Amino acid sequence: MGQPTDNFGEDAVPDWSTQEFDELYASVGADLDQVPWARLRPNPTLLEWLDAQDAGPGRRALVVACGLGDDAEELARRGYEVTAFDLSETAIGWCRKRFPESTVDYRVADLLALPAAWARGYDLVFELYTIQSLPLAARRDVVAALAAPVAAGGTLLVRCSGRGDDEPVGSRPWPVSRADLASFAGEGLAEVSFTDDVTESGRRFFAGVYRR
Ligand SMILES: C[S@@+](CC[C@H](N)C(=O)[O-])C[C@H]1O[C@@H](n2cnc3c(N)ncnc32)[C@H](O)[C@@H]1O
Repeated sequence: MGQPTDNFGEDAVPDWSTQEFDELYASVGADLDQVPWARLRPNPTLLEWLDAQDAGPGRRALVVACGLGDDAEELARRGYEVTAFDLSETAIGWCRKRFPESTVDYRVADLLALPAAWARGYDLVFELYTIQSLPLAARRDVVAALAAPVAAGGTLLVRCSGRGDDEPVGSRPWPVSRADLASFAGEGLAEVSFTDDVTESGRRFFAGVYRR
């Protein structure tokens, strides 16, 4: 996977540490572009990956921590049968309000306590800026939780803030190391591709594709 042609302002993904997610979504009212990570359009790494795929069989997608729903809607527009979830009820409420005709099954759910019925149930699992949003102490559990819904032959696509294995983690978002991502192997997922992008301001973003 190459450098996305438009990083949609990834430098704006904030070092945000004080408010909880649902409070933050609720605090902006209808000014959704005030949600710091919201672009209100699909993520370019997802678009680039999708553009390179054949429309073959295997079209069930799970969007993890879907936020305001733009990535889930893009997958549905391309023919995927999509389930999308977030811990924030406010965010899921906005998905339903923004896309009233949507075919996406939007749910409030916790990545760390997913329904058992979702295990190995999806041909594509997409996560964007979620790993870095959950406390570092839970990282191993987050990796396992992201891998669990990937079906045999299915794909996990990860896009996250990146850091060197020995770099200090600092405050939320807690960037993801190559070693963190390597632990998908222990969950039965093989790395298919990996990209390390550096933005103009020097922030690193990783994109990884993993297959069961
Ligand atoms: C940085 S935002 C990214 C949202 C979306 N992926 C995007 O890029 O627009 C992190 C998201 O993770 C959600 N989240 C945090 N903890 C979660 C959990 N345990 N399970 C599911 N979603 C969670 C938050 O509500 C928030 O929507």
